[in-house]
Amino acid sequence: MSTNWQEYYASHTTTALSAVQAAVKSGDFLVFGHAVAAPSDLSKALFEDRERLTDVKVFHMLYFAEPWHLRPEMKGHVQPILNFLDKNSRPAFREKRVDYLPCHFHELPSFFEEGVYPVDVAFISVSEPNEEGYCSFGVSCDYTKPAAECARIVVAEVNKQMPFIGGDNLIHVTKLDYIVPVDRPLVEIPPAPIGEVEQRIGEICAELIEDGDTLQIGIGAIPDAVLQCLQGRKDLGLHTEMFTDGVMHMIQSGHVTGEKKTLHHRKVASSIIMGSKALYDFIDHNEMIEMYPVNHMNDPYVIGQNDRMVSINSCLEIDLYGQVASEAIGLEQFSGTGGQVDYLRGAKRSRGGRSILAFTSTAKGGTVSRIVPVLPPGATVTSGRNEVDYIATEYGAVRLRGLTLRERALALVSIAHPDFRPGLMAAIEERFS
Ligand code: COA
Repeated sequence: MSTNWQEYYASHTTTALSAVQAAVKSGDFLVFGHAVAAPSDLSKALFEDRERLTDVKVFHMLYFAEPWHLRPEMKGHVQPILNFLDKNSRPAFREKRVDYLPCHFHELPSFFEEGVYPVDVAFISVSEPNEEGYCSFGVSCDYTKPAAECARIVVAEVNKQMPFIGGDNLIHVTKLDYIVPVDRPLVEIPPAPIGEVEQRIGEICAELIEDGDTLQIGIGAIPDAVLQCLQGRKDLGLHTEMFTDGVMHMIQSGHVTGEKKTLHHRKVASSIIMGSKALYDFIDHNEMIEMYPVNHMNDPYVIGQNDRMVSINSCLEIDLYGQVASEAIGLEQFSGTGGQVDYLRGAKRSRGGRSILAFTSTAKGGTVSRIVPVLPPGATVTSGRNEVDYIATEYGAVRLRGLTLRERALALVSIAHPDFRPGLMAAIEERFS
């Protein structure tokens, strides 16, 4: 590597607007950094420079910043292609200004590497360089690092406040074509409040988890409740797509050690991190935390190398066959596939592995059952009935793996909300007797 990277850094430093003007042309395919590592100065500059541009495709998943590039004024200039919706992108999707790309999370880097989506420009957000001139992708390694490695041009916001995290998570400054220094706090994601129902689900899931298990656990009230209920466990490990403050507390209290892990021994391995300022301070230069691209972290073959892998995820609806809708309610796309199927499959490959889909038995203030006789017309099945294992609600957990259609329907009714059980039983009678 260059011994004179400081000179390179100085000579490639510019403003966000100048970088956009120099790097982006009409028809380009742009990949944006992900989630809390959203390159928001570059998004704003793209908005300011929009009149010059037509048909620029912009790809990302979550975007936790002001989404300038998703504004109505960008129509014709920018076509967003998203792989996960959140509150910032749902309005643009409903207005039909966003197209959605279906795929499993672990596949995304292969789209860039194989030229399905040739990356013209990557807009990324990284840490300041270390002494050798390496910047860290910090809280989002996921598809961002592979996209930067495939890109013709890399434009990087070098953020003073981006934590430096190791693993396979570094890029040398000499690979950055345009450097835009910023000093911006990372967006904080507050924990979801844990109600009585989530607490009960947490307790039920925790009963399925043993000392020494390796966990994949997502974001939200149910994952946080599960973690809180694991206070008595020893030597838990983490191999996870993402994590948040709950995992930090489990490391600090000594319950997560990674001591029994059969892959990335004693390390907390992840691909995305989001949470509070306290979490961002905790992970900065923390040698226990390692970040890897999502084609490693979410590859079912890699996940399966962890013995006793337990994945815990959620869903919106499940039918009596065990078909799971996690990303759409009927025709309405709500989020994305993410790594759900990756982890269901990975946990199956793991010696002693288990997967849990946990959710409240009802939605919309108790008016709707999430366990339904059939999914609504046009529903997207995220996890097929052959993928699922444990299903948990506040009324208990059932293991669908190995059950016939009739058996699994009866098992699911046993954990449905009592108000909806008669209707579900009537559907079972009609279908199976
Ligand atoms: N019918 C109608 N509305 C429903 C519904 C149903 N069956 N189920 C949920 N909803 C509504 C809720 O009421 C809520 O609406 P509100 O925000 O107005 O209250 C909204 O949909 C979201 O439901 P909620 O249970 O709060 O979702 P969540 O934020 O806990 O997220 C998933 C749950 C399934 C959407 C989320 O886990 C996901 O996207 N999963 C797929 C990706 C994945 O699993 N990745 C794994 C690794 S992290």
